[in-house]
Amino acid sequence: MSQTSEPTAAVIGAGVMGNGIAHSLAVGGYRVILIDAAERALARGRQTIEENLQRAVERGKLDQSAAAAAAQRIVQRRSPQDAAPAQLVIEAVPEEMALKHDVFRALQSACAPDAIFATNTSALSITEIAAALDDPSRLIGMHYFNPAHIMKLIEVVRGLQTADRAVTAAREAAIRCGKETVIINEAPGFATSRINALIGNEAFYMLMEGVASARDIDRALKLGLNHPMGPFEMIDLVGLDTRLRVLEYLHVSLGDKFRPCPLLVKYVKAGRLGRKVGRGVYEYPASQ
Ligand SMILES: NC(=O)c1ccc[n+]([C@@H]2O[C@H](COP(=O)([O-])OP(=O)(O)OC[C@H]3O[C@@H](n4cnc5c(N)ncnc54)[C@H](O)[C@@H]3O)[C@@H](O)[C@H]2O)c1
Repeated sequence: MSQTSEPTAAVIGAGVMGNGIAHSLAVGGYRVILIDAAERALARGRQTIEENLQRAVERGKLDQSAAAAAAQRIVQRRSPQDAAPAQLVIEAVPEEMALKHDVFRALQSACAPDAIFATNTSALSITEIAAALDDPSRLIGMHYFNPAHIMKLIEVVRGLQTADRAVTAAREAAIRCGKETVIINEAPGFATSRINALIGNEAFYMLMEGVASARDIDRALKLGLNHPMGPFEMIDLVGLDTRLRVLEYLHVSLGDKFRPCPLLVKYVKAGRLGRKVGRGVYEYPASQ
């Protein structure tokens, strides 16, 4: 892998976001090491990437040979230590500070000292994530959107000590993969998660209060406010557990208006986590 001139990136976590990020990097010409602790997540990630590449061919976005080349650029591994050859590592493990710290400590011991580390956190503090590293200046936020292989934007988020070279590396990677960037100075929830979490939480309060059905709240925002997706469709895509963790963090850091709606908490307790488990606000038969 290191004998090629193609740049190498590693993606840690092959869940909802990790497989889309790996897909996007591979289409952008990176050799990609996709790493997940769970064998099942890797198998599902591989299948999703192959299906999404095929869909891109059917829609005329990619020719067959480019799709096959992208698939071949991705290898799968089980341990963060396997990220060693990467110049850029993008972390997409669950939204828990302690877990992210563990992952970056492992990456620090495995990777070259000049490798850039990025986190796809939705809302956590980049500065606090970077505090796990001997050199916090190498860490930056690269906040992708779901589905990551399609959505154009990456929020590039600077922590307190993020170096300019990390910003440059993140922007260059984004450009290479055909993405657009905005540069955000770290603030809880950046620009997008802060607003999106508020809309989704308010929609849950409205559902709890019986203001309207979930379908009609979604229809109202799509047809009346021109949102491409309704808030419940969006939260089912994002994952209710992921959204709840973001709200809990914003509640602590920004105050009461982000208090998670009790109905959302109930859905998560019931295991209705969204599309990824076939059931969230809506039901998703296995074929969808
Ligand atoms: N879901 C979204 O729409 C969305 C959007 C933007 C950002 N994010 C952020 O991206 C990150 C990942 O979210 P997701 O929705 O993809 O989560 P997910 O639960 O779908 O996937 C996380 C994956 O990480 C793996 N994992 C856990 N611990 C690991 C470890 N120590 N080493 C390697 N792999 C490990 C799990 O097996 C799982 O496959 C979170 O920080 C989340 O806030 C999510």
